[in-house]
Amino acid sequence: MENLIYLDNGATSYPKPDDVYTFMDSFYRRFGVNPGRSGYDLCMETGALVDATRKMLAGFLNGSDPNRLCFSYNSTDALNLIIFGMLKQGDHAITTTIEHNSVLRPLYHQNKFNGVEVDYIPFDTNGFVDPDDIKQKIKANTRLVIVNHASNVIGTVQPVEAIGRICREYGVPFAIDASQSAGKVPIDIEQLHIDVVAFTGHKSLLGPTGIGGLYVRQGVDIRHTRAGGTGVRSADRMHLEEYPYRLEYGTGNIVGIAGLHAGLKWIEKKGIDQIHHHEMRLTRMLIDGLSEIDGVSLHCQDDLVDHIGVISFNIDGMEALNTGTLLDGEYNIACRTGLHCAPLAHEQLGTAQIGGSVRIGIGPFNTEDHIKTAIEAVGEIVDVQKKK
Ligand SMILES: Cc1ncc(COP(=O)(O)O)c(C=O)c1O
Repeated sequence: MENLIYLDNGATSYPKPDDVYTFMDSFYRRFGVNPGRSGYDLCMETGALVDATRKMLAGFLNGSDPNRLCFSYNSTDALNLIIFGMLKQGDHAITTTIEHNSVLRPLYHQNKFNGVEVDYIPFDTNGFVDPDDIKQKIKANTRLVIVNHASNVIGTVQPVEAIGRICREYGVPFAIDASQSAGKVPIDIEQLHIDVVAFTGHKSLLGPTGIGGLYVRQGVDIRHTRAGGTGVRSADRMHLEEYPYRLEYGTGNIVGIAGLHAGLKWIEKKGIDQIHHHEMRLTRMLIDGLSEIDGVSLHCQDDLVDHIGVISFNIDGMEALNTGTLLDGEYNIACRTGLHCAPLAHEQLGTAQIGGSVRIGIGPFNTEDHIKTAIEAVGEIVDVQKKK
């Protein structure tokens, strides 16, 4: 749409860098065959891009073995592989109330159908989980600690290094949901003591939808919860044990991998710190502007230390959905309203009963003008609301 101000980068990044669109098109036209299934040159060349992208992503996370980088459809898919492949009857898991449904629902299913016991650690008034609260809940049968890295509701980045250190000390596998953080915040699995990372390609990694993955550190294993074709050792009756085949099933999303490859290259060229700095400068501007409007409540935005450019707010006396509809209809501003698939976070924030919050997600292509317009628009909506 003409002149749309897109502030819904928490849902997916848009637009993508031009390189992503052009590379996906040229790659798929030239190399769009099924890699790893045959030995002809074109097939090998397609496979080379898949391998190169594995390598880039493993490097991005400081993972030592690119084969332990497995592609999935998105982070929901990767998180399902983790939660169903690492927990079984009699196990205990620890997570937080800031999680997305892609963590919560697999855990609810594991609890309901397999009796896995789960503890949900609340975040504090600033939006952070206390690592000691996690430590207090570790038991002899705790088999997984799984934590959202950066919140898709309030943008807080959890203290994963401290949590990881505790998990390592107690010998409990530690997984993070890096859906919002990968591409915005550096993730070094060694330094942060992380065992498994789930990521999605279409958000901050600037790739297309339908591609994501997970990295599994050496020494940690995920059981098969699926089985199927791998393109190699077809006579074996059982799905292969070795990575990446272990967690990859059927033909992958080749054009998605190409897009992700181009997205990663763009991030490398720009520099993750520069991208983050740009987004946080705009986030600061947005928060300062919204804070000055009497009648706007911001959630957990007191300071921007350990944050990404995702914020949530409500206009007093107004349903979040109505604010979003006005921003869209009257001002051509796209943002997201509702619970953002994180119902426990809204229960804790007290926003579940009022239809959730209005969320603004800032991306690398947003500008100061976008933010100024959004602040003015919210101010005008508040003025009209007050006159009612
Ligand atoms: C924190 C978080 N986790 C998981 C997901 C799921 O991502 P996907 O829909 O790409 O699987 C999202 C997407 O909104 C998210 O923000």
